Amino acid sequence: MNIGIDKIGFYTPDQYIDMEKLAEIRGVDPAKYTIGIGQEKMAVAPLHEDAVSMGANAALAILDDEDRAKIDLVLFGTESGVDHSKSGAVWVHHLTGIQENARSFELKQACYGATAGIKMAMGHIALNPDSKALVIGADIAKYGLNTAGEPTQGAGAVAMVLSSNPRILALDNDSAALTKNISDFWRPLYSDYAIVDGKYSNESYLSFLNDVWGVYKERTQRDLKDFEAVCFHLPYTKMAKKAILSLTAEASKEDAERLMSHYQNSIIYNKQVGNVYTGSLYLSLLSLLEQAPELKKGSRIGLYSYGSGAVGEFFSGVVQPDYKNYVNKGNNEALLNTRRELTTDEYEELLEKALPKDGSNIEMNTEQIKDGKAYLAAIQDNLRKYAVK
Ligand code: CAA
Repeated sequence: MNIGIDKIGFYTPDQYIDMEKLAEIRGVDPAKYTIGIGQEKMAVAPLHEDAVSMGANAALAILDDEDRAKIDLVLFGTESGVDHSKSGAVWVHHLTGIQENARSFELKQACYGATAGIKMAMGHIALNPDSKALVIGADIAKYGLNTAGEPTQGAGAVAMVLSSNPRILALDNDSAALTKNISDFWRPLYSDYAIVDGKYSNESYLSFLNDVWGVYKERTQRDLKDFEAVCFHLPYTKMAKKAILSLTAEASKEDAERLMSHYQNSIIYNKQVGNVYTGSLYLSLLSLLEQAPELKKGSRIGLYSYGSGAVGEFFSGVVQPDYKNYVNKGNNEALLNTRRELTTDEYEELLEKALPKDGSNIEMNTEQIKDGKAYLAAIQDNLRKYAVK
């Protein structure tokens, strides 16, 4: 029985900062951000958007009544959790109208959380072939103004329905994972901003890739020639270019050119959004599926997930016939193309805006919210109130 991704949806807030304008106010050559880092636009979340509302919006974009009736597992991968106790999955379950007899919980391991969800969902569906699982990766990536990490921020969510006989990507069950206790990136409980050892995080990302790729190859006897494309966790799009160069250092010209050409399709969405941590790999997959010409029947895609701290995993899947009919290119392009550009002053003010931390109440201004979208409506008596407009 095939198990894998049956539907995939995406959401990002409707405002962004242009990377060239950000470079200007930082006194940096714009080419450093657009070519050296590889980002064009960076999504910025307003105060009424958080991991929960974004995750719900990504799910609302794909769920139908049959999914709502069949989903009995809601897995919410995030490193931008909004409560130490209650999981974002419970709010998403409620906001999307999934039937009550479901298990819902949150998964945390930096940017690896959604991959952990996919792996758990596969096991669940293997035991319960009629079930479906909703797996979400939703995050706000924040390093703060005037930091080296600033051009690699972003905000957004990806939601996937996993099922048997999936219509988009059947996942192989032979991945290779690696866990090592390292300190390349983390966010202490008291901080709104991540702390990162940038160069070390880049090195760790690549060294984990080489390790898990080596184990994967040995286990599966597959090699680069068996992959039509490889998608990577994308903290910024240049990172995957480094990854492909590393993977193909000794590859044939044909393999190297094929992977590099699909890399261009797999970064189109991420370039316009920035880092969405847990969702980044899956946003890249969505970009490839929607933006590349239709991949041949039976094409295998490699996937590299990396969550600082750190856990890495290389896994793979095979595209399903007519998968193009089950993605939503038009909707996702419209989502990206109808966003409002923030001025640099608006961006700086917004990035530092935070919800009250002293237990006081707050009511959100709902003017900007579009119909049908989930949002954080208020905090009252220490309770977060979400709504769908
Ligand atoms: N034109 C073109 N390119 C230029 C340029 C110019 N004028 N000026 C500089 N560049 C290039 C540099 O040569 C460099 O390219 P290479 O990496 O290929 O050498 C690139 O632009 C970046 O320049 P620097 O290395 O000088 O940049 P920096 O020190 O300011 O910071 C960074 C870069 C380390 C990625 C930083 O943005 C950062 O810390 N980001 C957050 C951490 C991160 O994303 N780590 C990734 C791995 S960890 C992970 O994946 C988990 C996660 O999601 C966080």
